[in-house]
Amino acid sequence: MQNFVFKNPTEIIFGKGTIAQIDARIPRDVPILLTYGGGSIKRNGVYQQVRSALDGREVVEFAGIEPNPQYETCLKAVDLVKSHQVQFLLAVGGGSVIDAAKFIAAAAWYDGPDSWDILRTGGQNVKTAIPLGTVLTLPATGTESNGNSVISRRATAEKLHFYADCAFPMFSVLDPETTYTLPAKQVRNGIVDAFVHVMEQYLTFPTDAPLQDRLAEAILATLIEVGPRTLAQPRDYESRASLMWSATLALNTLISCGVPQDWSTHMIGHELTALYGPAHAETLAVVLPGVWAHQLAKKEAKLRQYGQRVWGVTTVEAAIGRTEEFFHSLDMPTLLSAYQINAEEAAEVVGRRFTKRAVKFGEHEDIDGSAAAAIIRSRA
Ligand code: NZQ
Ligand code: ZN
Repeated sequence: MQNFVFKNPTEIIFGKGTIAQIDARIPRDVPILLTYGGGSIKRNGVYQQVRSALDGREVVEFAGIEPNPQYETCLKAVDLVKSHQVQFLLAVGGGSVIDAAKFIAAAAWYDGPDSWDILRTGGQNVKTAIPLGTVLTLPATGTESNGNSVISRRATAEKLHFYADCAFPMFSVLDPETTYTLPAKQVRNGIVDAFVHVMEQYLTFPTDAPLQDRLAEAILATLIEVGPRTLAQPRDYESRASLMWSATLALNTLISCGVPQDWSTHMIGHELTALYGPAHAETLAVVLPGVWAHQLAKKEAKLRQYGQRVWGVTTVEAAIGRTEEFFHSLDMPTLLSAYQINAEEAAEVVGRRFTKRAVKFGEHEDIDGSAAAAIIRSRA
């Protein structure tokens, strides 16, 4: 096992009817910015619960954060934060709203000349941020309990991420009942996103970390069990609750302690979203089997372990096949043709971008521009 530091400062408040508990956790006498997305929280009663918990406080609102949150939108919120001297941010919604809040929190107190540098450098220069809390309404990203944020920029078709210790939320409220109103497609996306998060931290090579392996396998098995049940029985509280907790544990930095990580599926996926528009999880379901096939020899031992322990199959081909079948059973396509994306063209553009940025991803740092292009080409 490699050395590691485990630090997760986010307090999780989990369960039915817990939104009111934000009251005790947010400072009383400072201006607060409440951010949200396109209005789902107004239609399902979450907004009203939040507003009544904030009763008596000075609250400024910023609505309209879009899926794959846009840099330009975030900058408008930063202006609002500055003009109202906001001292606390409350993000209410899915991963996009929370990621945007993290960027707004960092950019508002950033003293460099251009806040896009926060993303260009992956957050290296972010030392402080406005404290933030979240009310999560979509189990998927794990952003409610990590220091990551992913921001898009339409003008340049870029989608970049940053990490900062100070971007961890102080608290996150996870009330599974808020997820009842999610469209099936968002539930499906959430299951696949969480599933692939586990894979990025688990499906690498053996490192004598049996606890991390079994934690990862437990999350995968739980997603396989409760994911389809959530889709079939949308009002089943227990399935909703297990799905929500699984998605948080999949990316709250626990299972990555002391083990190598891949993340090449995500990095290629971000480019596909930025260039062509499919949702985050849609790109992951396409790219993951391609990464596995491309890296088969290097990932063989873990693929075999995964197949045996999670699916009860003995070959790596069966492990990959059962994964694709699982995605298909959720109505999730695994080829680029489902989105009318020309694989040849996408391979060319993404490959060129990786080469120009001189980036190499994967647990062996061998997924460069040409490897990414080959992976994309294999997913036509
Ligand atoms: O905008 P509103 O009206 O709220 O509607 C949203 C949005 O249209 C809707 N929604 C959310 N909760 C709902 C609901 N509709 C009905 N009922 C509810 N309870 O769902 C739509 C999608 O929301 P979004 O926040 O975009 O989805 P998700 O949570 O999947 O977040 C995706 C973003 O997170 C990034 C992705 O790249 C993408 O930009 N990620 C962030 C990560 C992180 N910070 O650690 C890791 C991930 O790998 C990922 O990259
Ligand atoms: Zn993801």
